[in-house]
Amino acid sequence: MNIVDIIEKKKRGTKLLKEEIDFFVQGYSDSVIPDYQISALLMAIWFNGMDSEETTELTLAMVKSGKILDLFQIKGIKVDKHSSGGVADTVSLPLVALVATNGVPVAKMSGRGLGYSGGTIDKLEAIPNFRVEIPIEEFIDHVNRNGGAIVAQSNDLVVADKKLYALRDVTGTVDSIPLIAASIMSKKIAAGSDAVLLDIKVGNGAFIKNLEDAKRLAKIMVDIGTLAGRETVAYITDMNQPLGDAIGNSIEVEEVVEVLKGNGGKRLVRVIEVLGGEMLRLGGKVQNETEGRHKIKEAIHNGTGLKKFKTIIQAQGGDANIIEDFSLLPQARFKIPVFASESGYISAIKAEAIGRLAVSLGAGRTKKDEKIDLAVGILFPKKVGGFIERNEKIALILASDAEEGNRAAKSFLNCVELKKEQVKPLSLFYYRISKEEIKKLSDE
Ligand code: URA
Ligand code: CA
Repeated sequence: MNIVDIIEKKKRGTKLLKEEIDFFVQGYSDSVIPDYQISALLMAIWFNGMDSEETTELTLAMVKSGKILDLFQIKGIKVDKHSSGGVADTVSLPLVALVATNGVPVAKMSGRGLGYSGGTIDKLEAIPNFRVEIPIEEFIDHVNRNGGAIVAQSNDLVVADKKLYALRDVTGTVDSIPLIAASIMSKKIAAGSDAVLLDIKVGNGAFIKNLEDAKRLAKIMVDIGTLAGRETVAYITDMNQPLGDAIGNSIEVEEVVEVLKGNGGKRLVRVIEVLGGEMLRLGGKVQNETEGRHKIKEAIHNGTGLKKFKTIIQAQGGDANIIEDFSLLPQARFKIPVFASESGYISAIKAEAIGRLAVSLGAGRTKKDEKIDLAVGILFPKKVGGFIERNEKIALILASDAEEGNRAAKSFLNCVELKKEQVKPLSLFYYRISKEEIKKLSDE
């Protein structure tokens, strides 16, 4: 078998065989096939796609590229969660704390930022001394002791994804249904949890821009999870504007703390409550999602979620004083306010463009293994439907470089569209997809 033939085949839109998929996944994992050939193949997959059989084979080949974690030492039904990626998608960190404090063990392996979307592991690195890489035995021990732990995907798990993820990030090949499905599901299968909750983001700030594609992605991921013997449920949630108010690493950690203190923004908190409720159901702690949702709300209001977050930070060596003192997090040198040039109702927010602005400030990567700037980002607490006054301060650009900051401040207004007439808020939830059904959701 020959990699050039496989590239040629996919370039022409021909379906790849299991053997061919195994060959390139193994070859790349073993560093026998170089980046440039896999880049070409990824681009061919981006253009010509993969059917569900190829996607399943790709997932299984990726799982085989590394070790599979055995979490039998953790008592209880372990529930994992993964987002398909978005802007100000600050869900995982508060969620782990809130679910763990309700007695469902969460052994969470998270990723770094991808393209213009943030990643939980980068965010955690904003907490001084927080160790995102710990030995597996220690990870398991933390989950047993504290109910939850969050680590970077270990090097020997899904070796193929580690390499493909970093390559896709910088070759314009992130937003592909088969590549996203295989990336996420291979990790979830290898990471050994019993059940998986997927948050599939759809909209102008997500890799998947339309609802039909999001449903296809969700459906194939649920099918792959089911095939692998994991109860898998996917929610399709809105990403047509930043979900939370902070885009950047330090400032997203601040937002996590605010959520757990009960001061989070409505939409972000709502997603956390609903996903958390589902995770408690998957973990067998409650009869249904509604009951679970109440328990998540309670854990925010009575402070047990925050307490659990503190415990998790301390267990992994981090400085938990950040909870009371945000100045311990990396701070940006320049804070540049953005003022509205006219008044009106916000009719659209270009979330991807805002994510890219944050990357241009240094919050994400444009080259493989690039070091990111944890201090920088954008604070933007406005949502579609809200009214802004001319000259009102609507956003704050946090920059380490004055010139970059001013440039971002100048282009920020292009990311926000205004209308004179009143505008309805955007929907937040679209579908819940399980093995049994595709249920349309309302925002209630
Ligand atoms: N998150 C992942 O882990 N992989 C993707 O491809 C997209 C989002
Ligand atoms: Ca993410």
